[in-house]
Amino acid sequence: MTTPVVLVERPAEGVALVRINRPDARNALNMEVRRLIAQHLTELADDAGVRCIVLTGNEKSFAAGADIKEMANIGSIEMLQRGTLKLWRTIASCPKPVIAAVNGFALGGGCELAMTCDIIIAGESAKFGQPEVKIGIIPGGGGTQRLTRAVGKFKAMRYVLTGDIFGAREAYEMGLVSELVPDADVEKHAIEMAKRIAELPPLAVEQAKEAVLRGMDASLETGLALETKAIQLLFSSEDQKEGMAAFIEKRKPVFKGR
Ligand code: CAA
Repeated sequence: MTTPVVLVERPAEGVALVRINRPDARNALNMEVRRLIAQHLTELADDAGVRCIVLTGNEKSFAAGADIKEMANIGSIEMLQRGTLKLWRTIASCPKPVIAAVNGFALGGGCELAMTCDIIIAGESAKFGQPEVKIGIIPGGGGTQRLTRAVGKFKAMRYVLTGDIFGAREAYEMGLVSELVPDADVEKHAIEMAKRIAELPPLAVEQAKEAVLRGMDASLETGLALETKAIQLLFSSEDQKEGMAAFIEKRKPVFKGR
């Protein structure tokens, strides 16, 4: 029996870990991997027992980009029919936080995949980059847009136009990586963070994520209006009453997701 190319684990209560598992191909993203990630993310989004998701690879590679061998000889219509934007939307629009735990290579589609997540935790020797230009294409999974939004025009241009690889320290300093940790601690650290998020009131977490993401695409005024509506909505939740009562009564809150 062959091992699936994407595995799902439950390392802690409320936490799911999705692992890309094509070590011999540096976790290159073939269509099977992409479809399975999308399928698992869709299922986990609907699973009430899951409150935070970690997406990871292995110690050598998060993902070395789209599978070049799979797409080397295809045409534009096949490229269109792959529908990769739709598949990655399952991550971008997942109502639950998704943390990318990155060791090794996060190149091309791999860097784009990490940027589709909400938080990026990287090992000190991780390597990022959008090297597509070197093989005659451009980033096709959001790289030109998400990298620019994350690090600004001039850093994004510097890497998209040269295809140069950059280290995790530089990625951290540019604002692409949320936290930099020793390589051996990446997964553990991501799971710990996911556990802490999973213990928080899920409605507040979901609203916070939505306000940040939707606000990024809107004017400040619209973003502020979205945020205001979200906080007003939370005042109808039992978890808001419980969270504030527990603070006043100096006890640990018990959140129910209602
Ligand atoms: N697609 C297909 N196979 C890949 C791959 C990829 N993106 N990356 C690595 N592999 C395969 C290699 O072909 C090799 O297979 P064989 O053993 O059968 O020869 C195996 O994985 C191991 O790779 P290397 O021997 O090259 O390993 P390394 O440790 O020396 O180098 C690497 C690792 C720097 C990641 C190098 O493999 C590399 O440069 N890979 C390609 C990176 C890249 O260009 N990514 C962008 C792809 S395009 C894209 O992503 C655009 C998009 O979204 C549409």
